[in-house]
Formats: sequence, C-alpha cells, structure tokens
Amino acid sequence: MKKKSGTMSYECPACGYRSSKWMGFCPSCQDAPEGLIPVESPASRLESFLEGGGGGPVRSLRMEDVGKAEVERSTSGFREFDRVLGGGFVRGSFVLLGGDPGVGKSTLVLQAVAHMANGRKVLYAAGEESPEQIRMRYDRLGRKGGDLYILPETDLEKIVGEVERLSPELLVVDSIQTVSMGPGGPASGSVGLLRESASVLLELAKKSAVTVLVIGHVTKEGVIAGPRVLEHLVDTVLYLEGDRSHPVRLLRTVKNRFGPTRELGIFEMSSEGLREVENASSFFLEGRKDRLSGSVIVSSLEGTRPLLVELQTLVSPTTFPNPRRVAQGIGASRLSILAAVLERRCGLSLSSRDIYVNVVGGVTLEETASDLGLAMSLAGSLRDISLSPEVVVFGEVGLGGEVRRVQETESRLVEARRHGFVHAVIPDGGKKNPVIPGLVTHPVREVGQALSLLGKLGGGKP
Ligand code: TYD
Ligand code: MG
Repeated sequence: MKKKSGTMSYECPACGYRSSKWMGFCPSCQDAPEGLIPVESPASRLESFLEGGGGGPVRSLRMEDVGKAEVERSTSGFREFDRVLGGGFVRGSFVLLGGDPGVGKSTLVLQAVAHMANGRKVLYAAGEESPEQIRMRYDRLGRKGGDLYILPETDLEKIVGEVERLSPELLVVDSIQTVSMGPGGPASGSVGLLRESASVLLELAKKSAVTVLVIGHVTKEGVIAGPRVLEHLVDTVLYLEGDRSHPVRLLRTVKNRFGPTRELGIFEMSSEGLREVENASSFFLEGRKDRLSGSVIVSSLEGTRPLLVELQTLVSPTTFPNPRRVAQGIGASRLSILAAVLERRCGLSLSSRDIYVNVVGGVTLEETASDLGLAMSLAGSLRDISLSPEVVVFGEVGLGGEVRRVQETESRLVEARRHGFVHAVIPDGGKKNPVIPGLVTHPVREVGQALSLLGKLGGGKP
C-alpha cells in the first residue's frame, strides 16, 4: 500500500498560530518578524510514529490483570476529620489543607498530629511559629510528648533532608507559603515557587511513602497565589471554613482521590482547641426561637449526611433605588432567581423590597434542596406568617415554579423525625413518597402549594 506523504504546516513561534502556507508575518499576533516556522503536521507525525513501531514495547493491561492497590490509612483521632478524608490519612498521599489565616488550621493539625504521634513518627516543619510557641500551644491543648519532631525550617532542601534522615510516617508543612527553595529557585511568594515546592513534596510522598499534609493560607489576592493553584496536583484538598466571630468551623472536601468529595466535618472552636460536633443538626438548631416569621428549617445534604439548619429571611420595604439582596450562606444568584420566580409565578411583590437572608450557624448551603425552604421563608417574612418549629422543608424549585425531587428524601426525613419534627413539606414523588412513622409529609408539585401551607402549618402571626 502506498503511503501518502505527510504535509508540512507553518506555525507562529510567538502565539502558536498555524497555517498551511508559509507567511512572512503572523496574521494573528503580528509578532513574528522572521515569519512562520515550518513544523511537521500531525498527519506526518502519526506516520512517523507508526513507522517507528509505536515507540517500543508498551503493553496495555486487561482490567482483570491490574493489581488492586492496598490503601493503608491512619486515623487523625477525630471522627469528623477521618470522615472528611474518606476514612483517615492514606499512607503516601498528599493532602492540602487550605483556609483563611487564623481560622484554626494549625490548631486542627496540631491536635491530629498529637494523636498520630502516639505510635507513629511525625515531623512538623514549622515556618510560621517558633518551636516554643508550638510547644506552648501543644501544652495548652493538653497534649504530651509522643514521637513528634518540630523542625523550625523553611528551606525545602533541609525539610526533605530531615525526612530522609528521620523517615517519619507523616510530614506536616505549615505553611506552603513560607517554604523557600534557596538561591536559583523560583522567587519567594511566586506561584512558581508554590507549584515547584508542592511538586517536590508530591514526589517525596510517593517515593518515601510518607504522608504529606500541607497547610496553605487562602490569600486575599487570591485564588492565584493561594492553595487553589495546587488543587490539580495533590490527592486531597480540604478547606477549613468559618467566621472568627462564630465558633463553628467546617471542614470540607473539595477533592479526594481516596474518598468521596463534598464531605463535611463540623467542629467548634473552644479554649481547648477544636472540638468535633457529632450531632450536627441539634447543634445548628440550638437556640432557635419558637415563632419567628421568615424562619424555616431546611434539610441540606452535606456530603453523605442530611443536616437540619435554620434559614432566616427578612423582607422589608426598600429605601434604595435598587432593592438590596443580601444573602449569607446562600448564593446571591439563587436568591435573585427564587425571588423572581415567586414574583412571576405566585404574585409576591418582592421587587420593591429589600431581602436579607441568613443561614444560622455560618453554614453555606450549596444544595438546591434548600430552594423550597427559602421560598417559604421569603413568603413567610413578606406576609408576616410564622411556621411551626416542627416543620422541615426541602425541595428544588424550577424557573416555572415547579418543585423538583432531590436525592435522599428518605434519609432527610429520618433525620428530621429523629430531631422531633412532625411535619415535612417535600417534593411530590408520587408513589415513591416515603412513609416515616410519626412524620406527616406534605408533598407539593408547585411552589404555590407550599406557600399556601404556610397558613396551615402552625400559622398565625408570631
Ligand atoms: P490557628 O490554628 O493559629 O489558625 P491558622 O493556622 O489557620 O492561621 O488558629 C488561631 C485562632 O484559633 C486564634 O484566633 C485563637 C484560636 N484558638 C482558640 O480559640 N482556642 C485554642 O485552643 C487555640 C489553640 C486557638
Ligand atoms: Mg497557622
């Protein structure tokens, strides 16, 4: 068979523009004084690959013949932390823990490390605080000794050297922003340095089977110079969130090669460090007032568990040319969309009113299942009708005002019943509507139906 000879194409060295004809300048960026340069076209590259026998003997494996990876995990001493990790730290994995400065990253890690150092060797490379400061905090957290080594060093070469010498099971780097690579390395504070030092640590994790836990501050300028640039590189990305004025701290999985993502761990900052909150729903429902218009309990699925949280809305006449839409814990665009749906489909006059929404406890509800609760909370505040505190609401609301089903209806209902709820406003699933003893369900198809339940369920002026 006669082979068709490969063709050449021409490329701009500056911007990569390609053309089948040679040109003395680049029509795309005008930045090629020598003109386009010839490159082999993909077709001729393929031919040469085929002629060369495909680059030597490489074989694919039948799925059945691929060995199963044994994952060895160790516990952090916190059930919440372990769950977020997918069952504990995986040996030889690279975990990134991000969060705002002061949120409690070092505290959380120090507590976990203290647990792990009982029986395992841990090396803590501290670039932010002196060993004495760490010792003070360690003592304050009520921890003792263990096989924990503090390395007051930021030079990556020295950190790597110490790992080789000590061969710990866990290496903590606090924080990646303080790591330096000495003369000749990328400039300090640059994205390049962040990336390069993280790749060295990644290699180290894989080569030496040491678990690497790196702390990274989310910086104001950002997203760019912060831990986000490392997300694609590492095995697991966790973020510790929370407001300094509130003791709740949420630990979220953003990425996990060794477990589920979107998992959520809940902690409370105390004078003895972070304490895990095991009964999350009762924690968030604590201190709620009996009757308050605009207050609705929603069920949001955070990772694998349903969480009951209170949503509060205040709707009031505006004094601004553009009414205000302020949302804490709910996406601003979701709120605007829902307000528009209620205005168009249910005739609620919201466009001349300010709307303030707050999710109690500092949680962020990312799930659309909170839509229906938000709708009832908006209407409740507008009409000044309070809902009985024994009602839980969930369901997604579409642009047509239709109420859509959400995942895990049954486990949400079970959780609500466990916390003493008696009524649930839920999306109508027809024959699939679950029956939970002691809980009266009110299935709805349209958001308007849910709003008309406002009066019936507890109802009345607060
Ligand atoms: P830290 O872990 O240093 O934050 P990060 O490493 O994320 O920058 O946490 C600092 C905050 O936590 C500080 O404001 C004090 C508070 N904190 C407590 O409230 N209780 C404690 O037991 C500890 C150790 C810290
Ligand atoms: Mg710190």
